[in-house]
Amino acid sequence: MSTLAASTAVAGDSDRAAFRAAPLDEVSRDRLATQGLDYRLVPVDSDAFGAWLQVVARGFQDPERSEQQVAAARERSGYRRVTGVYDPAAPMADAPASTIASWLGELTVPGGTAIPSCAISAVTVAPTHRRRGIARAMLEGELRTAHAAGIPMAMLTVSESTLYGRYGFAPAAASASWRIETRRAAWTGPRPEGRIDFIPRTRLRELLPELHERSRLRVPGEIDVPAGHWDNFAGTRPDAEKAGEKRAVQYTDAAGEVRGVAVYSVRENHDDFTKGTVTVSYLLADTDDAYAALWRFLLELDLVAEVHASELSPDEPLLWMIADQRAATVTVRDHQYVRILDVRAALQARRYGAAGAIALDVHDPLGLAGGRFLLEADQDGRGRVTPLEDADARPDAVTVALGIEELSAAYLGGVSLATLAAAGRVTTTDAATAARVLGWHIAPRLSIWY
Ligand SMILES: CC(C)(COP(=O)(O)OP(=O)(O)OC[C@H]1O[C@@H](n2cnc3c(N)ncnc32)[C@H](O)[C@@H]1OP(=O)(O)O)[C@@H](O)C(=O)NCCC(=O)NCCS
Repeated sequence: MSTLAASTAVAGDSDRAAFRAAPLDEVSRDRLATQGLDYRLVPVDSDAFGAWLQVVARGFQDPERSEQQVAAARERSGYRRVTGVYDPAAPMADAPASTIASWLGELTVPGGTAIPSCAISAVTVAPTHRRRGIARAMLEGELRTAHAAGIPMAMLTVSESTLYGRYGFAPAAASASWRIETRRAAWTGPRPEGRIDFIPRTRLRELLPELHERSRLRVPGEIDVPAGHWDNFAGTRPDAEKAGEKRAVQYTDAAGEVRGVAVYSVRENHDDFTKGTVTVSYLLADTDDAYAALWRFLLELDLVAEVHASELSPDEPLLWMIADQRAATVTVRDHQYVRILDVRAALQARRYGAAGAIALDVHDPLGLAGGRFLLEADQDGRGRVTPLEDADARPDAVTVALGIEELSAAYLGGVSLATLAAAGRVTTTDAATAARVLGWHIAPRLSIWY
């Protein structure tokens, strides 16, 4: 496998395949073996995959998957590296005691580029095997495997906020849930010239990946979405439930180009037909005009009193397109977690908010990415990172001492180093300068779960 960390190149197909097939981490394998447990890779085309999938469903409190659902999941899981820990003493020994899926993906970073990143998902440990260190062994194992493959970053979305800080992950892009009272909101934003039209869900399914590819580099925190996810949004999975509730529209600009789509469902209010609720499952806009036109369409639907949407940015332009900001109730939560695995490669890949020199002293409890580094950002926002052997190499540099968790939290620009310093999480000689350099003008966002 080529060393991805050496460049900022995005993940290629051969690197993705090599990561899927990478051997399991020996340290974790040995640690689990001392408990009589067997750490395995699970081929997606094997019978073992079906049992693995049922354990994931149970772990997330979902019902058992039907044969049709297992077949559909197998079909769309080819991109995943699937691992399980098995207990040979269990009566259902072919069902793993714990599961993880991971894959090599891409994460958008400040400056409109992406870096290779190991996405982690489907983390479950059976309630019969909890709190014995199995999740820790698997997570550390996958992080060491990604690190050994030269992948500079890992990322995940979480069920509970308290699980992953111990491995160096930090919430780096928040997600905002919106409830908008439509009559009170009153549209004051632009009224672009293009047109909105309903489209069939199959057409939506075709448009989503194209539009996402065109727009994902605009916002730090977004990822390259695995193909199977689009069927969820479009309701085009063969096993999709209530697909008929999804309504899809597209925005076409004055030049005839499709620039955005929205998919939503409406719940009518039987007590008062003028007070229905719209839930937006996804809104994807490639231009500011598409964004304005689609939101205006949703907020001006007849017979609708409230519009709900989630996985939005905490800093949506939408807030500045309505007459009454209190018409919107916005709840912000941690969402996209990232974990730097290679400080130099990760810092060199992003752009910076201001010029400056920062001497970083990074502590990594897992021993994967710590060290001392000099970050020099130029006027154009480009960063050069060198290992810092000599503390006096740049006596003018602002010093910042922090954990890998805090550096990961600040990496996408979602939290300022000044805030982390005020919280006692970072020690620095000049919080304002450090915050300006590491800051970014676009709030990070991740518009899906994975
Ligand atoms: C969360 C889960 C994977 C933990 O598995 P586990 O094998 O019990 O975890 P471990 O025994 O390896 O514990 C590792 C560490 O996490 C801590 N931990 C585990 N579950 C925790 C929880 N729910 N809240 C807070 N800390 C937790 C442990 O105390 C331990 O801490 P330490 O090693 O720093 O002392 C498991 O409980 C589970 O499957 N939950 C339901 C599905 C889920 O939420 N998965 C996560 C999806 S993002």
